[in-house]
Amino acid sequence: MKVLLIGSGGREHALAWKIAQSPLLDALYAAPGNPGIADHAMLVELNVEDHAAVIAFAKEKAIDFVVIGPEAPLVAGLADDLRAAGIATFGPSKAAAQLEGSKGFTKDLCARYDIPTGAYQRFKSAEPAKDYVRAQGAPIVIKADGLAAGKGVTVAMTEAEALAAIDDCFDGAFGAAGAEVVVEAFLDGEEASFFCLSDGKTALALATAQDHKRVGDGDTGPNTGGMGAYSPAPVMTATMVERTMKEIIEPTISGMAKDGNPFSGVFFAGLMITAKGPELIEYNVRFGDPECQVLMMRLKSDLLPILYATATGTLDRVDAEWRDEAALTVVLASKGYPGAYDKNTPIAHIPEASEEAKVFHAGTALKDDRLVATGGRVLNVTALGKTVTEAQAHAYALADRVEWENGFCRRDIGWQAVAREKV
Ligand code: AMP
Ligand code: GLY
Repeated sequence: MKVLLIGSGGREHALAWKIAQSPLLDALYAAPGNPGIADHAMLVELNVEDHAAVIAFAKEKAIDFVVIGPEAPLVAGLADDLRAAGIATFGPSKAAAQLEGSKGFTKDLCARYDIPTGAYQRFKSAEPAKDYVRAQGAPIVIKADGLAAGKGVTVAMTEAEALAAIDDCFDGAFGAAGAEVVVEAFLDGEEASFFCLSDGKTALALATAQDHKRVGDGDTGPNTGGMGAYSPAPVMTATMVERTMKEIIEPTISGMAKDGNPFSGVFFAGLMITAKGPELIEYNVRFGDPECQVLMMRLKSDLLPILYATATGTLDRVDAEWRDEAALTVVLASKGYPGAYDKNTPIAHIPEASEEAKVFHAGTALKDDRLVATGGRVLNVTALGKTVTEAQAHAYALADRVEWENGFCRRDIGWQAVAREKV
């Protein structure tokens, strides 16, 4: 099979690494890719916003299958255009990507199909939203409806904070994403991410993970794209997994199909495990980054036939096998991230990979044949272990062998699971 992978982050490096191991693979191309992905794929300079150019390239190289990593091309309808051109594609349609693109869309789906989530109302202006907040009281959660780079959510512990967040949204703090606001009940519990594949009819549970969104140790400081993750999430016991499939995932898949937006691709549910059980916080219509890196490390099965079955409506014929070990990834980021940081700082050394540990590239580039850091999140040091504690020790031992002066990382990735493992 000839495969084209779209994307350039740590998520795509992990996907390329895994796809390259498939005996079914004849050739792997990546657009635009990165220097780590170049170890497994031929890099192609393609403007992925130019769908006609992507289709022309796929036809020229007789590509059998396109795998789309990030959300932006999905929301822009790249999967629809490729499929319309007769090319098998892994990734949801623009219509189904609304599951991530609009919080109101997802909340209405939950209401229609009885999927457990916080009670909510949608608002198009400030005054009625404020009246609702005053009636409900704090704590309460205010969300800009659209994609706001993870910044559109305020978990308000006081009524004043909630009222200010409503003003921020309608005053344009999040642009068009804040033209509508969702006010939602505060859910108390532990968070987990639940990854799943769907071909529109069947759902196949993958694995669970927990990520660390805040930049600082102890989960402090501003939110980021994710500073590290581990899998599995200990809070997701077999009972919780079973309940999540039955109460949340299956009604979502059948509901999306009934509504005329069948979902094809990978998605993950952000869950809050409350005293009542699993409740949905949000959906994302792609692999998480850096969660994908730990999932790929734990996946025993060949990834390529699983992705192809997802894209071609035969998911009921495949299964995914997982290693029992835990995997943990530590993100090395440029000093200053998520604020301003220096670009093109030299990375002098990246340690060799082994069966049990690997450094994935996220924001790197080659400048005059030297490896430099170009992004905020730059490397993902990923390792396996019998326990999260062991995976954590392996990952930090490897991270400490990376030579990159301008890099930093959190030192406590996996702390909740490590604390659990102590007792
Ligand atoms: P989201 O962008 O919807 O994932 O929200 C970002 C973060 O806000 C989540 O990861 C949660 O930590 C928190 N959050 C969102 N909704 C709620 C809720 N209803 N109750 C408590 N925390 C929430
Ligand atoms: N790490 C969180 C995400 O990919 O959305």
